[in-house]
Order: sequence, then C-alpha cells, then structure tokens
Amino acid sequence: MTAPQLIQIHHDNPAAVRMELLHGLLAPQAHTSPKYLYDALGSRLFEAITELPEYYPTRTEAAIYSACLPEMALHLPQGATLIDLGAGNCAKAERLFEPLAPRRYVAVDISVDFLRAALTRLQREHPRIAMLGVGTDFSSGLALPPEAGRAEEAARLLFYPGSSIGNFMPHAALTFLRSVHAACGSAPGSGLLIGVDLIKDTVELQAAYDDALGVTAAFNKNLLLHVNRLAGTDFHVADWQHVALYDTAHHRIEMHLEATHPVRVSWPEGTRTFTAGERIHTENSYKWTPVGFTTLLQEAGFRSPTVWTDPAARFAVVWAPV
Ligand code: AVJ
Repeated sequence: MTAPQLIQIHHDNPAAVRMELLHGLLAPQAHTSPKYLYDALGSRLFEAITELPEYYPTRTEAAIYSACLPEMALHLPQGATLIDLGAGNCAKAERLFEPLAPRRYVAVDISVDFLRAALTRLQREHPRIAMLGVGTDFSSGLALPPEAGRAEEAARLLFYPGSSIGNFMPHAALTFLRSVHAACGSAPGSGLLIGVDLIKDTVELQAAYDDALGVTAAFNKNLLLHVNRLAGTDFHVADWQHVALYDTAHHRIEMHLEATHPVRVSWPEGTRTFTAGERIHTENSYKWTPVGFTTLLQEAGFRSPTVWTDPAARFAVVWAPV
C-alpha cells in the first residue's frame, strides 16, 4: 500500500512567535495576525462557521463548482501536479480529482499534522495519484520543496480556494500572487485556480461575520486563549466582546476584540492596559470586484483570467493561466 510522503519545512520558533505577538499587542492600535485564530479549537470553530446560515462563502463556492466544473475542466490542465494551498482536510481539492485526473497531489498547510489523517485516507482511495504533504507557512511567499516535482515536467495547477486571499491587504496580495505565479512554473497549461469573496451589501456581509448563534464571536475570542498559551498573557475572554464591521472605503470586513471595561493584561516581562472600548484588530477579510481581482492577477503576471460566479454574484472562482 502506498503512503503519502509528509515533510515539515520549518517550525515556528516559540520565542519569535511570542515576540511577534507582544509587539502587536503593544502597538498603539493593538493587532494580531489572523493565523492565531487557528489553534485546534479555532479550526473546529471555523468549520462550524462554514455551516452557519449567514456564512455564504463556503456553500456559494461549492455551488459554483457543482454548476460549472464541466466547463472549468475545459480550461484546466489534465494530469497536472495539483498544489493545494491551505489544504486542511483536502475536501475541496478532492472534488477536482475525478474531472482533472492529476498525476500528483501536493497538499500544503501550516502544519503537516493537519494533513496527515486526510492525506492518508485520500492516498488509500486514490492509489495512482502520488501524494505529498508539506507543512510550511506560505503566507509570506510560497517556496516548494524538490519533493513537489519539477515545474518543467508537468503542468502545475495551484489551488487557493475559500477566499483566503481576503486576509491579505491589496499590496500584500499582489506580492503573494507574484510568488504563486513564480511557483506555477512555465509548463503549458499551468495556472492558478482561486476563490475570492465579492463586494456586496453591507448588511449581508456583516451578518456573515457576526452570526446570530455567536460562533464567529467564539472563534474571535478563542484567539485570546491561544495567545495566552503562546505569549504567556493572562487575557480573560469575559472582558472582551466581538466586533465585526464592514469598511466600505477599503472593501474589507474587520474583526476586532473590544474591551467591555478597563482591562490590564500581563505577561512575564510586561503589561498593557486597555481602556473601555479599546480594540485589538484580529482580522481583515477583503472583498473584491471581479474586475478588480482579475486586474490584480494580471499585475501579478498571469494571463487573461476566466471568472465563474454564482447567479447572485456573491463569490467568484477564477482561473488565471500563467
Ligand atoms: C478563512 C479568511 C476566508 O475571511 O471569511 C470567517 C475567515 N473569519 N469568519 C473569511 C473568517 C471570520 C475567512 N477566511
């Protein structure tokens, strides 16, 4: 029986993580990277978010694939190396196996531990696809290990679903997409298949990030428990409330944690006070227009993209060839 190959490229250095977190918490506008939303509980809360009635992106993207996959397959390479960025449980990429018959599947996520179970199962079900799991933080640029195969020997299909690109500010999204373009190589048929959330009505956007059940609030507040473990802080979840607002000028949802009364937070070598109403900025989720996003892809070096959307144009799936 074939087993997937698993490699961890680099581990986060705990001292560097603590420094980065405390630096952000001490800034005049306190902030943390959205990657700290995803400890084990945070990842499960995010999965719960994707099932909420208000959170339309996941089911809308799935509906676009259900409706358009036969047509998409006419644009996408057959027998390619499928490289899945932020693969997690690998479920979205698995839908591409049948129509595209990839020769190799490379699942990339921040930790190879997140990939092991899913890849082992997938490899059993698809013994003819060579499978590789890569643990790496690609948010500051994508570099693939030699085990991912040579870019010249087969087309590369980079896959970045779910509108994870929304976490990047526009200039950082451009830099990131340039590194993805480079990682695509130049074999004929190569390119990027990416999902992006679209600009829409403010009420609908805000509801998606401030659901009635309070799951997104729990997801946001859970960051404090994760930060306590990583940075040695003593945040109390009960001192903070979830805030999600849509900034129409920047086309982004902002998530914040807001102190409900004056709060002092301490850690072994320091402390910070927050006044009532003061916030910690925990995430940006940018929304794009189809034209704005295809222009960005072309600035990153891709050729003319093809866009598929749902009938209400809530979400877009874009194929950008190299
Ligand atoms: C995983 C970044 C796509 O921005 O919609 C969901 C994260 N945050 N609810 C998003 C998220 C709050 C999600 N992304």
